[in-house]
Amino acid sequence: MTTATRVTVEAARDALIASLHGTVLDIGAGTPRRRAHLAPGSRWVGLEPDESRHHRLVPTVAGEDRLLLGRAEHIPLPDGSVDAALTSFTLCSVDDQPTALAEIRRVVRPGGAFAFAEHVGAPHGSWSRRLQRMATPFSRRFDHGCRPTRDTLSVIETLAWEHVETETYDVRVAPGVVVPFVVGRAVLPSAPRGSSATMGR
Ligand SMILES: C[S@@+](CC[C@H](N)C(=O)[O-])C[C@H]1O[C@@H](n2cnc3c(N)ncnc32)[C@H](O)[C@@H]1O
Repeated sequence: MTTATRVTVEAARDALIASLHGTVLDIGAGTPRRRAHLAPGSRWVGLEPDESRHHRLVPTVAGEDRLLLGRAEHIPLPDGSVDAALTSFTLCSVDDQPTALAEIRRVVRPGGAFAFAEHVGAPHGSWSRRLQRMATPFSRRFDHGCRPTRDTLSVIETLAWEHVETETYDVRVAPGVVVPFVVGRAVLPSAPRGSSATMGR
């Protein structure tokens, strides 16, 4: 656990994004900003359920990149079709986290990666968690359905990844209010010898 600022968390996330290669699915893309951090030669596939955000993204899509309208709980891509998936402040908003994570695991190819940067619930019993709970009706309504008290990392860890590496940052978001942010990567086991995956490019 590291005490940090939001800027530190975003720098760690952007470095993680830069380490992804091949076809990268950006779930809850929202804006083209994450695409700018991908390694040269990568292909961005944005997934966004909000029609007005999707509409604003359309003119930013160029070359081999693609933009999909849809939700993390039902990703409109075949099994094993991307090299990596990314969520940046999205898993707080999805309606059904276990279904969304099972979908992410399904569309990432064997040996591929899932990178995430998410804010999560403060420790049970803390003042920060109480404030997160009080803020939930407002954030659900005005911040893309965000539920601030979610224990997203535990849900990620329930799936059979080969390994999960994370760093947790404690960020003071207001006087006396400290919110944990997790930035990390999960890797899928490689395919058994002899099997092949459908690649997205
Ligand atoms: C806080 S914004 C983050 C946007 C962007 N990823 C970023 O890092 O700036 C959350 C995004 O998740 C999207 N979202 C909400 N529910 C979703 C779902 N079920 N599946 C995929 N994306 C969802 C929202 O429309 C919004 O664009």
